[in-house]
Amino acid sequence: TMIRLHEAKMLQTLHRSLTQNIPEAIKVYGAIFHINRGNPFNLEVLVDSWPDYQTVITRPQKQEMMDDKDRYTNTYHIFSKNLQKLPEILESDSVINWKQSLTIQGCQKGLDEKIRDAVASKSVQVNYNKRFLYITDNVFKSITSNASKLMKPLKVASSENVKPSLLSVFHAELINNNWKFGQNEKSLRFVKRCLQNFPGQCVLDSEGNPISWIILEHTSEMRMSYSLPEYQCRGFAKWVMNNFMEYLQKNDTIFYGQVEEMNEAGHKFLKSVGFSAFACGGYEWECIPADLI
Ligand SMILES: CC(C)(COP(=O)(O)OP(=O)(O)OC[C@H]1O[C@@H](n2cnc3c(N)ncnc32)[C@H](O)[C@@H]1OP(=O)(O)O)[C@@H](O)C(=O)NCCC(=O)NCCS
Repeated sequence: TMIRLHEAKMLQTLHRSLTQNIPEAIKVYGAIFHINRGNPFNLEVLVDSWPDYQTVITRPQKQEMMDDKDRYTNTYHIFSKNLQKLPEILESDSVINWKQSLTIQGCQKGLDEKIRDAVASKSVQVNYNKRFLYITDNVFKSITSNASKLMKPLKVASSENVKPSLLSVFHAELINNNWKFGQNEKSLRFVKRCLQNFPGQCVLDSEGNPISWIILEHTSEMRMSYSLPEYQCRGFAKWVMNNFMEYLQKNDTIFYGQVEEMNEAGHKFLKSVGFSAFACGGYEWECIPADLI
């Protein structure tokens, strides 16, 4: 069984020690980053032992996971220094509630095999999504050197007749309707919750409507970046991203991104704003119990 860490001191110690395992541990690191800053998504942290832990899992507290079909909320983040033992841990219904639709995320190559081992004896459909993990030099160095401040805020050149702006929950539908992995009621709830608790940046047209945007979610990953088709390839995403990075760096908030393998524009976009791809990759498993399909 896993141990629940809830004392602030222990969570800080865990967070500091995870800096040795960046980038592989970036998802749990990012989750604990916000747990230690007020925990707006009511997450909890499980370790297999303490203080000499090998596996860390972050997940929403039980009262948050009330909707069996909401895999956006029912999300688990995993990092382990001992993948051999992982199937045994993940199998347990006290660690993962396999009766629900859920999402597992992590950035370790060997995770796929272990998750499949864990579900082998269960009636659960697993959809696997491979991504590339992108981090900027600044953020990578700030995390791994355990700096309390992010380094070197960027200077952003201003553009002609568009205005940078922060997003609000008012924009949730627009964002959800254009999010490839969203476009449903549950994802709308998730988008709203992100916008209520974390910053998002956009650029407005002359009538005040967003034409390009990006948001931050509860593990400090940048998500849902999008430019309306008629405005693509005109530098808007780049401008939004530069403003957003400046904003996050001023607030000492870490950030990173992930891009699907075949998303050429996504890879070009993140490289053009100073991100580098990491070999560990990013992975997401969407798990649906057979009786909920
Ligand atoms: C990815 C996306 C947000 C880029 O928005 P955009 O406003 O068109 O991007 P910009 O005009 O600011 O261009 C940023 C960089 O990406 C490159 N780029 C943009 N679209 C591209 C495309 N279709 N193919 C190749 N490169 C592209 C640009 O050349 C530029 O790089 P450069 O400065 O080195 O020339 C946009 O294509 C989009 O909304 N895609 C659908 C959603 C998505 O995939 N989001 C990204 C998830 S990471």
